[in-house]
Amino acid sequence: LRRPAVFKRLYRLQYCSSARACAKNVAAETELSVKKEHCGGKKSFHKVLEERKEEAERSLLISCPSNTCEKTFLQHLSRRGDVKKYFFYESFGTYAVVEFAKKEDVLSILETASIPYLQHEAAVPFKSRLLSLKTDKLGNMSNPRSSLQLSSQTSVSVNDLIKKLNKGYSIDQQLHLLTEAFQLTEENIRLRFLVCSLLRDIAASYFPECDIKPFGSSVNGFGKLGCDLDLFLDLDGISETTPKQVGSYSLEYQVKRKSTERAATQSILSVIGECIDQFGPGCVGLQKILNARCPLVRFSHQPSGFQCDLTANNRVAIKSSELLYLYGQLDERVRALVFSVRCWARVQGITSNIPGAWLTNFTLTMMVVFFLQKRSPPMIPTLDHLQKLAGPMDKSVMDGNDCTFVSDLTKVSVQNNTESLEHLLLGFFEFYGNFDFNKLSIDIRKGKEQTKPEASPLHIQNPFQLSLNVSKNVNTKQLQRFVLLCQESAWLAQQKAVAQPNNATGDVPWGLAALLLPMTAPAQSKKKRRDSPASRIKDLLESLKSSKSKDGSNVEKSSPK
Ligand code: CTP
Ligand code: MG
Repeated sequence: LRRPAVFKRLYRLQYCSSARACAKNVAAETELSVKKEHCGGKKSFHKVLEERKEEAERSLLISCPSNTCEKTFLQHLSRRGDVKKYFFYESFGTYAVVEFAKKEDVLSILETASIPYLQHEAAVPFKSRLLSLKTDKLGNMSNPRSSLQLSSQTSVSVNDLIKKLNKGYSIDQQLHLLTEAFQLTEENIRLRFLVCSLLRDIAASYFPECDIKPFGSSVNGFGKLGCDLDLFLDLDGISETTPKQVGSYSLEYQVKRKSTERAATQSILSVIGECIDQFGPGCVGLQKILNARCPLVRFSHQPSGFQCDLTANNRVAIKSSELLYLYGQLDERVRALVFSVRCWARVQGITSNIPGAWLTNFTLTMMVVFFLQKRSPPMIPTLDHLQKLAGPMDKSVMDGNDCTFVSDLTKVSVQNNTESLEHLLLGFFEFYGNFDFNKLSIDIRKGKEQTKPEASPLHIQNPFQLSLNVSKNVNTKQLQRFVLLCQESAWLAQQKAVAQPNNATGDVPWGLAALLLPMTAPAQSKKKRRDSPASRIKDLLESLKSSKSKDGSNVEKSSPK
């Protein structure tokens, strides 16, 4: 029996006091290797995607009995391959993600796997890298005394978050604490890429050269634990239309013809969706939403707990994910502000899990980006500026849209904006509390307001498909709620009792925590917020005042602006 290098890691992991400590270990190692490889520079979006994809292709997802003995399990796997990294988590049972050193290791393990014998049912013999750990001799693999350290795949509740934030020493620190609590963990990112890779294997039975790529918040740096997994079936590698001339002849594949590209996409998605539904282990509840502007199939991947939205022919969305990734990497304040605004919007009921006329997280992110471009001096550059910095390799035209912008982060010079996050958060509420939504449109390409080209209540130009409004779904009522809540939050944030750390016990919400308490914003009210503070805020201020007077500290009464 080989003694694999992973045992050293295993012993180190066993001494970790908690699953979170383990998670930090993996994350810290990855961070370290990033720094080493890039001498302090940050990786381009493509590099990250490529490395994660390759890592996922060397990985297995294994359902394990909850009393699995970690050591015996790893010994078992190490007979056939070199385990590089692994972690356990829970989602409808206990699972392990195991990364091997080489793809051959995975193939070697799969050679030992069999199709289950089912007594009263019949198995669809589709072989994938989603496996179940079985033991013939009961107890052979299990060890009732050692419990597995499980990496958490869910974020803290808002109540727990508020308690955590109350203990922060500044509002800036609170925004960073919120980001840390909500952002995707190293393990969750690995799991997302592994699910993409497993789904690619299904789609590859029809289109062997296809790829399934994650986009949206799984990869743009703004994903919160528990967010959906947006996927894109990329058939570009197959659809080469240039004839390959050999002598005076060339050959062409005979293909089915569809009336439009949209019809071809719908047909491909429908069939791949059917395959996922019928053959994909762990994929349940598939819905085909093929008549949407962007046709998709939606399903749950039970072993990971992810809700998946699979689209095809949606290349431009990948570019907007890359653009947001770039903005998030340029300055750490961008991510902190986006995470905090998104969380604030969720607790205030501005965004919702249910599709409808609400603002979406993507819309809010675009609004934060625009706001930061408008600071004086600007914190982040406009898309037009990023386009000017692009090199020849960055040239990209998709579906007739120019999506060119720089991919090398080191080419973008650091801006000299030094505002605190506290100041920026207040600035965001004031900016949108007073924005002339009736007349103006938000344009992150120019970093300037434009005259609204259409009558939608909220107009945010899609940065790559200029004729599209990313917030077309938002109705007047929801926009008004957003504006009122921005005004209320701006007012609240300026109250002395809210803006300063106020209690020794840490149980009275202050700063960002106070802004995360739901307020009531009547949608139809024409009356200005400053004349009628919502009762929730009044109560909050009362409790802050009484807590301060108990502390013996002075509460200065400031009137709403
Ligand atoms: N998208 C777009 N235009 C829209 C909506 C979405 O271009 N009107 C693209 C964006 O690239 C977005 C991605 O589709 O990031 C996924 O959309 P969605 O899941 O709604 O947003 P996320 O950014 O993934 O945020 P969330 O965490 O809420 O899923
Ligand atoms: Mg999403």
